[in-house]
Amino acid sequence: MNGPVEYIPTTLNAIRVDTVVGCDLYLQNCVNNEVRYVLYCSGTSVVKSDKIEDLQKHQIKRLFIRKEDQKIYLKYIESSLIHIINDDRVDIKEKAYIVYDVAKNIMVDVFEDPRSGEQVARSKNWVSNTIDFVMKSKGAYSNMINMISHDYYTYTHSVNVSVLGLLFAKYLGFDGNEMQAFGTGLLLHDVGKTQVDPDIINKKERLNDAEFAMIKMHVELGADILKQTGCVDSASFFPIMQHHEKYSGKGYPNGLKGDAIHKYGKMACIIDVYDALTTKRSYADARKPFPALKIMNDEMTGSFDEKYFKDFILFLGSGGERQYQKSKKKFPMSV
Ligand SMILES: [Fe+2]
Repeated sequence: MNGPVEYIPTTLNAIRVDTVVGCDLYLQNCVNNEVRYVLYCSGTSVVKSDKIEDLQKHQIKRLFIRKEDQKIYLKYIESSLIHIINDDRVDIKEKAYIVYDVAKNIMVDVFEDPRSGEQVARSKNWVSNTIDFVMKSKGAYSNMINMISHDYYTYTHSVNVSVLGLLFAKYLGFDGNEMQAFGTGLLLHDVGKTQVDPDIINKKERLNDAEFAMIKMHVELGADILKQTGCVDSASFFPIMQHHEKYSGKGYPNGLKGDAIHKYGKMACIIDVYDALTTKRSYADARKPFPALKIMNDEMTGSFDEKYFKDFILFLGSGGERQYQKSKKKFPMSV
């Protein structure tokens, strides 16, 4: 027998007039302390403006969907993401939540079907919308950082790394094209893990040499798959190919050293390690930012480009905004 239907809330402002959501929308009613869900708009109907206005008139801010329809709903939200980002009625916290949730949903699909050009196109589109969000919204940094999941799944790690990377790139003054290439590469950097035996990926015990060699192959396997889609820009392959290269030359797959590593690769390596350390893993608890940076500094000496590592520390402490030097004009000491 099926269990009770579970409902989850949606943001009213995310639902646009004259669109078809694709799943039923419900109103939550409370009658005699009993919560009930009443169908408000069927998933196949066009949402008319009077329906939305009616809800606004009654100050209803949330509609509900069945939990089983979440994927359909997220795909709908994905299609209107840019409108949501640019909608002043949606508060920034909610925008950050939606941006993050849409990305998780895309990444689940990417990992299920990494060879699909459609999934790559969705990834690129998300990066483009997220750049818009990050560049235009004051407070995007703190709200996005708060969204970052500290439970590890390959797809949440990919989203975390891309979000952190886009914020870091903004901090460093990257232009839109650079952010697009870098953010897409970060989102897709671990796609090759789909080609490695999950028993090895999820193994809690220490890996033996053969298993570690298999894990290392994820970099090139991922790059090969993405190349075959023909949809990934060449600059995005720097973070994909180089996120495990170490400044010392002790990384993989090519053992590149120092400035032979592209700046996207240097930054990707720092962000990848930082996210792994601040995320709960089967073999370690999630570290707070400072202890994670301390491990990177003390125990991984020589692994990272010093300049970018320093910038990354300053970026994390900055609230996402670079503190430009104030005017050099000297202020009078006394008036
Ligand atoms: Fe990786």
